[in-house]
Amino acid sequence: MKIFLDSADINEIKELCKTNLIDGITTNPSLIAKSGGNILDVIKEICGLVSGPVSAEVTAINHKDMMMEAEKLLNLAENVTIKVPLTSDGLLTCKELSKNNVSVNVTLCFSSSQAILAAKAGATFISPFVGRLDDIGQNGLDLIYDIVEIYNNYNYKTQVLVASIRGVNHVIESAKIGADVVTIPTKTFKEMFNHPLTDKGLKAFLSDWQDTGQSIL
Ligand code: E4P
Repeated sequence: MKIFLDSADINEIKELCKTNLIDGITTNPSLIAKSGGNILDVIKEICGLVSGPVSAEVTAINHKDMMMEAEKLLNLAENVTIKVPLTSDGLLTCKELSKNNVSVNVTLCFSSSQAILAAKAGATFISPFVGRLDDIGQNGLDLIYDIVEIYNNYNYKTQVLVASIRGVNHVIESAKIGADVVTIPTKTFKEMFNHPLTDKGLKAFLSDWQDTGQSIL
């Protein structure tokens, strides 16, 4: 399973990319707004930090303007993935871009029927939002089960990119279901490293080692 970072914070991205465990980045208009930077500058800089796909979202709501925005975003770097909302215009844009071999991430997916349409529109990634479904009392992970099953039934090439992740459990469950990608906030990525028994075990090993007076180097 690939791990993308859901962030537009340059410092955060720089820090976590040093782990060599980050396969790509997703951004959205809210994250760009939070970064305080200009979208074109921010996306360009992020693209220089990672070799994997960087999702940059269009903000237009009609197909014609989405195409013009996509063109501008695509000129920034080779690893730009165009992110479009799951609307009729968004899918029209997806179809046209994917026909020209442009990588497209269809975002704001909350149902299996939407995911089917995105696959038919040639999306590279579909982004179902698990956390926001949980927030309204539904089980977001059920949607991931359903989309993975449907895509497998028809051998759709669209990758299931689990978004709106709220914690490590969402990551583990997405991996168990067989999702292709998770996009996670920094906090969740850092939490993935942690286990109290790792800390306790390391402390004991280091203490026993110190008692031997040995050194490997
Ligand atoms: C996905 O691409 C979105 O940027 C993101 O995962 C949304 O997450 P949120 O529901 O925490 O805002």
